Amino acid sequence: MRAIVLEGFDEAPRLVRRPVPEVGDEEVLVRVHAASLNSLDRAVVAGVVRGRMDYRFPVTVGRDFAGVVTKVGAGVSRWKPGDEVFGFLAGLTLHHGTFADYVVVGPEAQIARKPPGVGFTAAAAVPLAAVTALLAVEAVAPQQGERVLVTGAAGGVGSFAVQLASLRGAEVLATGRPQDERYLRRLGASEIVPRDGDLHDSVAERHPGGVEALVDLVHDAEGFLSLTELLRAGGRAASTRHAAPNGGAVPRRVTAANVLAAFGPPRLPEIADLIERGRLHAVVQRVCRLEEVLGELVAETRAPTRGKLVAALATPR
Ligand SMILES: NC(=O)c1ccc[n+]([C@@H]2O[C@H](COP(=O)([O-])OP(=O)(O)OC[C@H]3O[C@@H](n4cnc5c(N)ncnc54)[C@H](OP(=O)(O)O)[C@@H]3O)[C@@H](O)[C@H]2O)c1
Repeated sequence: MRAIVLEGFDEAPRLVRRPVPEVGDEEVLVRVHAASLNSLDRAVVAGVVRGRMDYRFPVTVGRDFAGVVTKVGAGVSRWKPGDEVFGFLAGLTLHHGTFADYVVVGPEAQIARKPPGVGFTAAAAVPLAAVTALLAVEAVAPQQGERVLVTGAAGGVGSFAVQLASLRGAEVLATGRPQDERYLRRLGASEIVPRDGDLHDSVAERHPGGVEALVDLVHDAEGFLSLTELLRAGGRAASTRHAAPNGGAVPRRVTAANVLAAFGPPRLPEIADLIERGRLHAVVQRVCRLEEVLGELVAETRAPTRGKLVAALATPR
């Protein structure tokens, strides 16, 4: 099979031929029809997560997949060959990966039945980003009419966070480029805050009394703390970048949480349900070939992000 593989630190990823992996008792083998790119994949290739994740070389890159179960281990009763599924590899071990024709999916992964009305390409754009967005929006629990500032709103996680906050009846302030305005409004944003320029000043000027919640997908600890000043007393903030202080308390009774999709109970079935009912959808910026993912993994500059880049491995539909 084809696979994008990292052989060691400081080595470029390569597209190589590998034997189809064997399945263990608790694992399933999935023929990957489509796999989407996450920021984490770039971080894995760049070695940024070295020390935090366990690289077991050779590492096949990629976490998100949509495809068809082709084999199941002796201990698996939930799935059978022919099932159409989607999901993401979770946990901290890097070895199996989804930028490959087949992936072994273990019990720590999140996997769910692919909504039948959704193609493999769109389904592959969902798992890690949507579950992360769900955790972040739940962490700030917006009520009807409350204002939620979402930074990085146009990207993979952001496109789901805007939809999920808006589904709860929140007014979503979404950061974006001027050309993102229509796109972000279609996702449910009520206000667009310029991505460039002083985010803090832009929001403070428009909402001098503060907003109720912040979902921050962009900043490190210092930037995150500064953005929490935009919250009213008792406001809630969440970071997907581990930027919230340990213990979660920031001044003015603001609570702050870090969210991590790699651990925790399965949430993908809820996402699948929302998608099936037409309440949530994936934004696919571009569908590409597996070969093109190699360049995307190491690119120093990129086009502005709108949703997800998806590699089609088998015939997409
Ligand atoms: N904790 C978890 O479990 C978890 C899971 C998934 C992702 N994450 C993290 O969440 C973050 C977002 O992930 P993603 O997959 O959504 O990334 P993404 O698809 O690359 O999107 C990032 C978004 O942030 C915007 N952005 C980048 N720099 C910005 C800045 N300085 N000011 C304002 N906007 C900026 C980008 O805009 P342009 O493209 O227009 O520049 C883009 O819209 C990443 O840091 C990722 O590592 C965490």
